Amino acid sequence: MEVDNTEETASTTAVIDPMEGSSTSINDELTTVTPQTKTVKSDLNMPWIEKYRPKSFTDIVGNEETVLRLEKFSSCGNVPNIIIAGPPGVGKTTTILALARILLGSAFKEAVLELNASSDRGIETVRNKIKMFAQQKVTLPPGRHKIIILDEADSMTDGAQQALRRTMELWSNTTRFALACNNSDKIIEAIQSRCAMLRYGKLSDQEIMTQILKVCKSEEVSFSSDGLEAVVFTAQGDMRQALNNLQSTWNGFRHVNSANVFKVCDEPHPLLVKEMLLECADQNISKAYKIMAHLWKLGYAPEDIITNIFRVAKHLEIKESLKLKFIQEIGMVHIRIVEGMNSLLQLSGLLAKLCTAAAITVN
Ligand SMILES: Nc1ncnc2c1ncn2[C@@H]1O[C@H](COP(=O)(O)OP(=O)(O)OP(=O)(O)O)[C@@H](O)[C@H]1O
Ligand SMILES: [Mg+2]
Repeated sequence: MEVDNTEETASTTAVIDPMEGSSTSINDELTTVTPQTKTVKSDLNMPWIEKYRPKSFTDIVGNEETVLRLEKFSSCGNVPNIIIAGPPGVGKTTTILALARILLGSAFKEAVLELNASSDRGIETVRNKIKMFAQQKVTLPPGRHKIIILDEADSMTDGAQQALRRTMELWSNTTRFALACNNSDKIIEAIQSRCAMLRYGKLSDQEIMTQILKVCKSEEVSFSSDGLEAVVFTAQGDMRQALNNLQSTWNGFRHVNSANVFKVCDEPHPLLVKEMLLECADQNISKAYKIMAHLWKLGYAPEDIITNIFRVAKHLEIKESLKLKFIQEIGMVHIRIVEGMNSLLQLSGLLAKLCTAAAITVN
């Protein structure tokens, strides 16, 4: 592949077609989709992340066990205080909103208080706003409670969290708390001990592919299989990122292929990185360096380059023992880059190490 050519297609990935529910190869079925000329369904003003935010548990993709647990809680009605912890864009807020909707139905508006990082959540708010809401009388079906949603709870100060301890207990007969956070370490232990902790992991490539395929079909998006694979690659398990990248590419180019996706996401093209690593496996330092210098010239940050090198190396088709060595060396250079040694020399040194590793493994 030429250094400037970024149009090649990526490898085949097996996906589940959401419409058919059967397993199929993406290259068999999807490459034939032609740019559509009919009226575009999508409302340009509506972000797809909101348009396709699941309303019920069945629409939530991935983390089945945790969702199942919540479904059980909701069916018996008496839900404990909960914390959902996990990486961004995997459905934590969505799940809590769905839970509240299922439990409270038409009373959702008056029986839910949602406070997120953009609201003021200092000690005063916890003392006054939450207390006032907890004291309000709302008629609910028997066995149901008002719900206070504390989204992005890890950004609450320790003081505010401390103030929450007693509040949680005082109003436990009328009110339940649902917290969402990225980092459960930042929630004080006293709060953790009052809640059932549920953990969400990153979504798998397959799960993201299934969802974006569904969105593509309902929005009549023109796409090629390598385009969707590029969206999945750039999302790295984050559904919000996947939908945003898909929508930006579609709005910007009216066709989703890998070249367009990487123009929107602007990160080192994985095919270029793959070619560079394969040159290293062939002990061809000068060709590998040419690609590295090209990436450097394009202005990518060393950290972006090294993380993409790692992502590509994980799936590189080379001998397993060599792959292990590659990942080890990449890890070491990543540490150095994070510590501040982020020069082209450092990245070129990595290429030299990879070529040396290839030479040792071959001999
Ligand atoms: N599991 C999922 N299934 C279907 N869609 C999802 C899922 N997770 C996220 N999404 C999509 O991504 C959007 C953002 O999800 P959500 O707000 O729930 O993320 P989050 O986990 O709360 O992230 P953050 O930690 O950044 O707040 C949703 O509106 C939805 O469109
Ligand atoms: Mg959220």
